[in-house]
Amino acid sequence: MDRYASIIGTGSYLPETVLTNFDLEKMVDTSDEWIRQRTGIVERRIAEDDIATSDLSVQAARLAIKKAQIDPLEIEMILVATVTPDTFFPSTACYVQKGIGAKKASAMDISAACAGFLYGLDLANGLIISGQYDTILVVGGEVFNKIVDWNDRNTCVLFGDGAGAAVVQSTEEPKGILASYIGSDGDYAADISLLGIPAGGSRMPVTSEAIDQNLNKIQMNGREVFKLGVRLMPEAAERALQKANVSVDDVDLLIPHQANLRIIEAVGQRLGVPREKVYVNVDKYGNTSAATVIIALDEAIQDGRAKPGDLILLVTFGAGLTWGSTLLRL
Ligand code: COA
Repeated sequence: MDRYASIIGTGSYLPETVLTNFDLEKMVDTSDEWIRQRTGIVERRIAEDDIATSDLSVQAARLAIKKAQIDPLEIEMILVATVTPDTFFPSTACYVQKGIGAKKASAMDISAACAGFLYGLDLANGLIISGQYDTILVVGGEVFNKIVDWNDRNTCVLFGDGAGAAVVQSTEEPKGILASYIGSDGDYAADISLLGIPAGGSRMPVTSEAIDQNLNKIQMNGREVFKLGVRLMPEAAERALQKANVSVDDVDLLIPHQANLRIIEAVGQRLGVPREKVYVNVDKYGNTSAATVIIALDEAIQDGRAKPGDLILLVTFGAGLTWGSTLLRL
C-alpha cells in the first residue's frame, strides 16, 4: 500500500497588537503611501515584550490539534521552523512540546529562514511516507519584532509576528503532499549583508561594539533579495509541479511566501497563475518569515478559498539562500 502524508488540521495565531503604516510614520522617516506602493503592506501584528516564539506557536498548534481531532499524545515529532527561537537551546520545539502536552514526541527546530516551514513539511513528508512516523506537528513561528532595528526604515516596515501549525498524518488515500522540493545555495551566505543577522552566533558573539553597530539586528539588501525572490520562487514552484506531473492550470490556489505584494504578483505572473488564484494576506501581517505560508494556508481554509479536494501550491524563499515548494491535495 502506498503511504501519503496529509495535512489533517491547521491553525494560526497572530498577536492582537496592530502596528499600522501610520504608526511607523511616527517612528522612522517613511510614509503609508511609500510602504503600500513598494510592499503592499498596510499593517502588521506585534507581540508584547514578554512573548516569545513558542508562546505564539503553542496557540497555533493547539488550534491545529483541535481541527485534526487528535490527542497531543499521538504526536510523534514536533518540528518548529523559526529564525527567532526563544533561546539558542533548548529548542523552541521543546517549549512547544511542553505547551501542548505532546509528551511522546521528539522535538527540534529547523533553521531555514523564511523557507523553514516548507523544509519542515518536506521532512515530515519523507518521514511519514517511509513509514517511520505517522503523526508530525510542523510549526512556523516568529517574533520578528525582537530582531528588527526599529530605527532602520529599510527593514522595520517589512516584518511582523505570528505563527502557524499543521498536523501531518499518514494516509493510504492519494492525497496530501503530492510533491515537495527544497533547495539551498550557501554561496549567498558569504555576504551576510544580503539577508541575515551577523552577530549572536559563534562567528560573532554579541558584544557592546556589535550592539552599537546594530549587528545583532537584521541586515538586508532589499533590491537584491527582491530580484532573487522573483527568480527563485517560480523555479521552485515548477519543480514541485514537474515532480507531480501536474500542470499549473490545475492548481486551485497558489500561496507564495508573503514578503512583498510586488514579489507575489510577479511570481503569479511568471507561473501563469491568474490573480484570483493567488492568495495574499501580506497587507494584514507583513512578512512573518517562516510563518507566512502556513498562516496563509490556515486562513485560506478558514475563509473557504481552499476547500477539500483542492490542489494547493505553496512556494517560498529565504536567507541562506533557501527555497522550497509543496504541492498539496487538501
Ligand atoms: N520609507 C521611505 N523610503 C524608504 C523606505 C521606507 N520605509 N525604505 C527605503 N526607502 C528609500 C531608500 O532609502 C531608497 O532611497 P534612495 O533612492 O534615496 O537611496 C528608496 O526608498 C528606494 O529604495 P529601493 O531599494 O529602490 O526600493 P525598492 O522598490 O526596491 O523597495 C523594498 C524596497 C525593501 C520594499 C524591496 O526591495 C523589497 O521588498 N525587497 C525584498 C525584501 C524581502 O522580501 N525580504 C525578506 C525576504 S524573505
